[in-house]
Amino acid sequence: MLDLRTLRTLYKLSKKYIKALGGVISTGKEANVFYADGIYEGKVVPMAVKTYRIETSSFDDLDEYIFGDKRFDYRISHKDKIFLWTEKEFRNLERAYEAGVRVPKPYAYMKNVLLMEFIGENEIPAPTLVEIRKELVELDVEGIFSDILDNIKRLYSKAELVHADLSEYNIMLLDKPVIIDMGQAVLRDHPKAMEFLKRDIKNLVRFFRKFGVKEDEEQIYEEIVGGDDEA
Ligand SMILES: Nc1ncnc2c1ncn2[C@@H]1O[C@H](COP(=O)(O)OP(=O)(O)OP(=O)(O)O)[C@@H](O)[C@H]1O
Ligand SMILES: [Mg+2]
Repeated sequence: MLDLRTLRTLYKLSKKYIKALGGVISTGKEANVFYADGIYEGKVVPMAVKTYRIETSSFDDLDEYIFGDKRFDYRISHKDKIFLWTEKEFRNLERAYEAGVRVPKPYAYMKNVLLMEFIGENEIPAPTLVEIRKELVELDVEGIFSDILDNIKRLYSKAELVHADLSEYNIMLLDKPVIIDMGQAVLRDHPKAMEFLKRDIKNLVRFFRKFGVKEDEEQIYEEIVGGDDEA
């Protein structure tokens, strides 16, 4: 599951940041996520360790989210793109976190490995919205939806970012919703930012409609884009 290069990177990072590596949280096409007892500012803190796949990574459309210009593309190796992607997720998380958006606090990154705050309890990750869709009806769905909207607004107006892969798969619920998976997030002046924002809103509205939440995509879009610096 982990290639030798990634293990070496983990080993280097562990000298400073990891006390003990725990179990697997998720294995996906693009990344694996593990639990770790981490070390941050002298304290033991629960961490999530996200390792991006170098060899078998399936993402071919990285460029759309990194570059607006394909002319320079060929000069960067696939491996270096994955490293850049990891750094991008770290910096996006940092930006969002500092703006007060509810995302995991990023701790460190090196090459294709990212360390961040663990979202969950007792080494058990909080569920994503898709994982608890059956139980969601019993919860305050309206409240959850409006909390997510507040966070997207803040992400847009304060962090000046658009998530660009927002859906029930990338929102965890730990008491309140937490937005994850920020590698593809782009600055709002990216040429496709508005297209991505519309798609994010569409995905959310589609998901929450199943639970009786009636919201207008266009209106939400206007609220986010028009509301700008006040959020
Ligand atoms: N900070 C975290 N704390 C706890 N669990 C996490 C954290 N970040 C991610 N996870 C878990 O790992 C899963 C995958 O994470 P993420 O969405 O960031 O990766 P991904 O890029 O979608 O990976 P892939 O597409 O390869 O599955 C999440 O659905 C969640 O269950
Ligand atoms: Mg994801």
